[in-house]
Amino acid sequence: MTKDYLKEYDAATDSEKYPLVQKWMKTEPLPFFKQLREQRPILVTPECTLLALFTDVRDCLQMPKIFTVDLYKPKMGVTDTEEGYLMAHDDDALHYREKSIMQGMLNRDDIPKVRAGIAKSAKEILKDANGQLDIVDNYCRMVPAIMVQEYFGLDGISPEKLLKWSFWNQYNTFHNQPFDLNSEEKYKRIVNEHDKCSKELVDYMTVLIVRKLVTVKIKDRIFGMGIKVINLLRFIAKQEPIVLKDDIVKRMLRTSFAQQVDFPLTRIGTNAGGLLIGAVETTSQAVAQVIRMFIEDPALLKQAKDAASKEDNSQIDALVWEALRFVPISPYMFRQASCDYTIAKGTDRQTTIAKGTNVLTLTQSAMFDNYANDNPDEFNPDRNWYHNFNYGFASHDCLGKYVGMAMIPEMVKQIMCLTNLQAVSEMDYEDGPFPEKYKVSWDS
Ligand code: HEM
Repeated sequence: MTKDYLKEYDAATDSEKYPLVQKWMKTEPLPFFKQLREQRPILVTPECTLLALFTDVRDCLQMPKIFTVDLYKPKMGVTDTEEGYLMAHDDDALHYREKSIMQGMLNRDDIPKVRAGIAKSAKEILKDANGQLDIVDNYCRMVPAIMVQEYFGLDGISPEKLLKWSFWNQYNTFHNQPFDLNSEEKYKRIVNEHDKCSKELVDYMTVLIVRKLVTVKIKDRIFGMGIKVINLLRFIAKQEPIVLKDDIVKRMLRTSFAQQVDFPLTRIGTNAGGLLIGAVETTSQAVAQVIRMFIEDPALLKQAKDAASKEDNSQIDALVWEALRFVPISPYMFRQASCDYTIAKGTDRQTTIAKGTNVLTLTQSAMFDNYANDNPDEFNPDRNWYHNFNYGFASHDCLGKYVGMAMIPEMVKQIMCLTNLQAVSEMDYEDGPFPEKYKVSWDS
């Protein structure tokens, strides 16, 4: 018999209602969301309002001035005098400008090389592990940290520091909000850790930018003209050009922007920090959860292993994206209403959301809406990618999505290639929002 969540919800007192919703979103999201879609697609709780249908989620995320990311502002350095990070800006000049510059910097033509780099570091870690590894710290977090050092260019620092900075930033932004119901003590502890990390990150970034600036300016001056001449000759001889060693930070520093573009060195530093924060903990959680899903389902594991053994990545990639519909890094994205707004106008679910209301757009529920996917409860890797919300949607969609779309499946693929792969322990979240421990073994 299916559980009647809404009956229990309606019978609960006001103070019990949202904690119940929070528990179901964590422990049994899919049947809970299904009942919401069928019976109460807009759930107004005392804490926040939940949107469960694909069309409402899409509508909400497409109106950034109405459903804002104001809750990110205190987490991402936005104050009356500081601009903070682009992610905490809604459809303004800074967001438009910096997102497009950064999209250009993360040139999608790099992706095959980035993927090859991921495969290499993943293989090395697994080879050195000799058949047993706690994969969360040593693999799921470490491989993206290496990518952050090598491709993004945040080098000259221990990967452990990078992991720590990404962890506390992600924790504070995405899991320390009013609807996370953290105690005051826990809330303050997370903010404290975040603030310490932000200070360390800013200090590191200042040194990094100065060091790289000196390097690129001197090297470009010494070799620049020579290389231009050599490359002209190579072009005539139909040979590949010589390129100076590059990473994203160096690329940003080598690019000269007219003053009116308004992208000075300080903004380069802020955006380089954002690359790190976005990359590590998100990837780690996604990779760990997909690996566990595959290991726990023998038929799926076989399918994933077969796909991983192929040179062509399309099958393993599709399996991983479909898996993330079932085990996303978050079942929702949150927004705050900047004015009263009536959502789903003209339908029988029409609801006015009051200014200041926090809204959870249940992106996982949206991916299980029949509008988005046929037979949504079935695992089917052959889905419409445009109905997948794992990288967000509309103006705030993920800056790193094309990197992530290569990195996550490649990391899962390398694990699936291991013979006699098994879990040695249950995945442990240690009462936090992210996977912390997951030991696996294989024949080495
Ligand atoms: C690989 C490196 C990554 C980088 C550099 C990165 C960076 C970013 C940035 C800068 C944004 C904000 C964009 C904006 O506000 O316009 C963003 C949004 C987002 N990212 Fe990523 N990200 C990365 C990986 C990932 C991964 C692996 C996932 C999940 C599997 C993910 C999920 C998301 C989601 C869901 C959003 C939307 C948040 C919202 O709408 O509120 N990201 N990312």
